Amino acid sequence: MELNPHIHWWQTQKPCYLKSYSTIINLKILSMSHLVSNKATPLKGPIKVPGDKSISHRALIMGTLAIGQSRISGLLEGEDVLNTAKAMTAMGADISQDENGDWLVHGVGIGGLCPPDEPLDMGNSGTGARLIMGLVATTPHETKFIGDASLSSRPMKRVTDPLEKFGAEFHGSEGMTLPLTVTGISDPLPIEYAVPVASAQVKSAVLLAALNTPGKTTVIEATPTRDHTERMFEHFGIEIDITPRGATTAITVTGQPELTARDMFVPTDPSSAAFPTVAALITPGSDILIENVGMNPSRIGIYTTLQDMGADIQFLNQRLECGESVADIQVRYSQLTGITVPKNRAPSMIDEYPVLCIAAAFAKGETIMRGLEELRVKESDRIAVMVTGLQACGVTVTEHDDGMTVTGSEANTGGAQVKTHLDHRIAMSFLILGMRTDSPVTVDDGTVIETSFPGFRTLMNGLGGNIEAANMGEQN
Ligand code: S3P
Repeated sequence: MELNPHIHWWQTQKPCYLKSYSTIINLKILSMSHLVSNKATPLKGPIKVPGDKSISHRALIMGTLAIGQSRISGLLEGEDVLNTAKAMTAMGADISQDENGDWLVHGVGIGGLCPPDEPLDMGNSGTGARLIMGLVATTPHETKFIGDASLSSRPMKRVTDPLEKFGAEFHGSEGMTLPLTVTGISDPLPIEYAVPVASAQVKSAVLLAALNTPGKTTVIEATPTRDHTERMFEHFGIEIDITPRGATTAITVTGQPELTARDMFVPTDPSSAAFPTVAALITPGSDILIENVGMNPSRIGIYTTLQDMGADIQFLNQRLECGESVADIQVRYSQLTGITVPKNRAPSMIDEYPVLCIAAAFAKGETIMRGLEELRVKESDRIAVMVTGLQACGVTVTEHDDGMTVTGSEANTGGAQVKTHLDHRIAMSFLILGMRTDSPVTVDDGTVIETSFPGFRTLMNGLGGNIEAANMGEQN
């Protein structure tokens, strides 16, 4: 795509971004497109996977809070992140893209956010919604959040509880879900908060609220979760202290710093890279190289787990870019063996269980995945949805309250149509399954993949996959 210098980001977007929430939802329903994945040939070649979703949200937010122009290279241009860009624009940031594809954010400074004229439509993104709720909780405006059917069913009390302690008020729908209105507080009080659930989103919402709060706010984390917010704060020179406190970690931020613009680099998303990784591991004869993958230790549990299962995965050219470790990953087809995944590894691979189930379906023996209650409140109930889909595809799987056990077999049939429930990772996982089964696997909605992995189908087909639009005729 050729772009003029300094073109505003929304001018590059599909028209639906400029339409109302209900129009977007209607367009989404009308454009739900089935995709069918047929057996792949051996996967070969170097690939580049889109940028990290977690870091991209944070980069746009931090650019907005800094004075001056921050440049972001490698930003994920998926729907979730574009919704965050749109929200930042609605609150005063000037966001554009240059001729090299880098994103330029002219920020307004901490305390400089404007009240948005319209509700912030966060689409499918729990991360965007929860992080920005933190941001506006300590800004004296009223901000309404809306989202798609999946996001509107996800729990927000986990962020509204700590944010109320700063003095903010929340009016949500039943059970504190979206649509939800935040009345930010003009004179917030610093808090100390022990996060009751292993969640980087909750931790980050509190840390972002702390930025416009005088004094020191402390978040106590019992289980370490992804630390991109902390690294980003350090990158911007914010005073942040991370100290062990008994068995926990105390993260203390000194509020109301003056932030000046910084350049940011977004590595490839290790969660997205897990899809071609698993596809190569289960497709005989495959040998692929994925470039520039983020290797933050709080994100790479999936690679450790696959290696524990016997995967041939090599990390090449390891380096540090803007405070984040990065490597190129070489993956070769491997005969995997089932394992019991340690429960304490869950936070470092929480988004990767759906695709791990696909690897497990072709491993020798059982793969036991437990301690995953959080999977039930992701974009879909990922335990229930994976179990139903796997069973329809002939995979032996047992559902537990807190996870699942998959028994591997070379005889998984495929041949089913799987419901994705507005969940991008469910869609991609089952398309990977279809690359290996004798009968094709169809997913009912390929459009959801745009939230995190634009270009997924083209990229997988370029490697040796055969994923195509399915004409469902009457079944539509
Ligand atoms: C994210 C944190 C995780 C993860 C999500 C992204 C983040 O959610 O599942 O995809 O960027 O902070 P939780 O904080 O709910 O575990």
